[in-house]
Amino acid sequence: MGDGKNMKTKKEKKISKIKEQLAQLRAKLKVDNEGHQHTKLKPKPAAKPKPPAKPKPAAKPKPAAKPKAEAKRKIKEEKKRKAEAKRKIKEEKKRKAEEKKRKAEAKRKIKEEKKRKAEEEVRKKAEEEARKKAEEEAKRTYEDELEEQLTEEEITGFQLEKTDMDQMCNKVCEIIAGYENDGVLQSNLWKKLKLSSRDGSRLALKLERMGMITREKILEKERWTYKLIIKKIPISTKSIENGAGHYVLDLGCAPGGWTQVAVQLAGNQGKVMGVDMSYVEELPGAHIIKSDISDISITEEILSFFGRKINVVICDLSPQVSGNWSVDHSKQISLNYAAAKIMDQVLEKNGNALFKIFDGEYSNEFYDYIRKKFAKTKLKKPKVSRKQSSELYCICLGYRN
Ligand SMILES: C[S@@+](CC[C@H](N)C(=O)[O-])C[C@H]1O[C@@H](n2cnc3c(N)ncnc32)[C@H](O)[C@@H]1O
Repeated sequence: MGDGKNMKTKKEKKISKIKEQLAQLRAKLKVDNEGHQHTKLKPKPAAKPKPPAKPKPAAKPKPAAKPKAEAKRKIKEEKKRKAEAKRKIKEEKKRKAEEKKRKAEAKRKIKEEKKRKAEEEVRKKAEEEARKKAEEEAKRTYEDELEEQLTEEEITGFQLEKTDMDQMCNKVCEIIAGYENDGVLQSNLWKKLKLSSRDGSRLALKLERMGMITREKILEKERWTYKLIIKKIPISTKSIENGAGHYVLDLGCAPGGWTQVAVQLAGNQGKVMGVDMSYVEELPGAHIIKSDISDISITEEILSFFGRKINVVICDLSPQVSGNWSVDHSKQISLNYAAAKIMDQVLEKNGNALFKIFDGEYSNEFYDYIRKKFAKTKLKKPKVSRKQSSELYCICLGYRN
């Protein structure tokens, strides 16, 4: 019991000590027993009266859960659509790029093919030329050599001693004309005329230059030589065929090759007149006059022979060729203008004409002049044996008068 009492006092002592310490602490802190602070604190400003609470705006009605999902789906779809469009554009670009590449490739191939063909053509041409040259070389004749050795003047001005060359030329042409389209082997002809082959060959070259004959290269007894053929009207003779009543004037007719054709074509009731300043042997069925076409009385003589205007004028005039082409060409064109002047006075309306033209500087001018006089005209270049043929034929149909 005594121990209990002791313990109680001890406890009480401890408590009173703690209470003391607490009091001291309070004193320090100036806090009363209730724990309230005794320090004067600034009075808090009176709290502002709160404004009356604004009535909250009515909350937006939340979209129903379903439309939201729909919108999301639409956005997703739009994105998908855009992605698809992008992909398509990309694909299209790729396709176009490939197409471009393909086209470029095709172009390159075409270009290469063209180049190859052009090269092939050049090669073939060169081969062909080489072949022709070799062939020509093998075909070389005495005349070819002469043609190379002699100047044009020496050919066209060829003159046999003490011989009237005009008569000689006409005589030779007449003989050649007798063989018609078959022509005659020149070696046979020179034998007949007792001419050396050198003179004969020069004469043949001269006649060819004068436009009276053509020379055709042929192989005879394993030797290349020439066949001489008279030059006929180099175009269709339709305009004077079946010519009952056809009246034909042949200007520059010697030695008479075209005149003979005209006689055949004009028929019995036709009339043919030939004019030449050179001598021409009588030709059955034709009336020949030896005259210069620049003679002013010629028109009167023509009209008096035919008795009326005529159907056809053929004109094969050539000057004495000098070998100087530009001079010969100018002279020949002047002869054609003179012939056209005669034609204007003797040709009937709708009549036809044929002019030989030495091709050159003034041919177009003459062609323009003559074509205005006819309903229809055309130019023809005949095939001849000479490499550089320079003759044209102007066919004129339907004289306008
Ligand atoms: C190529 S020849 C004619 C050939 C003739 N067509 C034949 O087939 O037999 C040219 C002729 O025109 C002649 N000639 C040139 N100028 C002449 C002129 N002013 N007057 C007449 N005839 C001319 C020449 O005398 C020569 O006979």
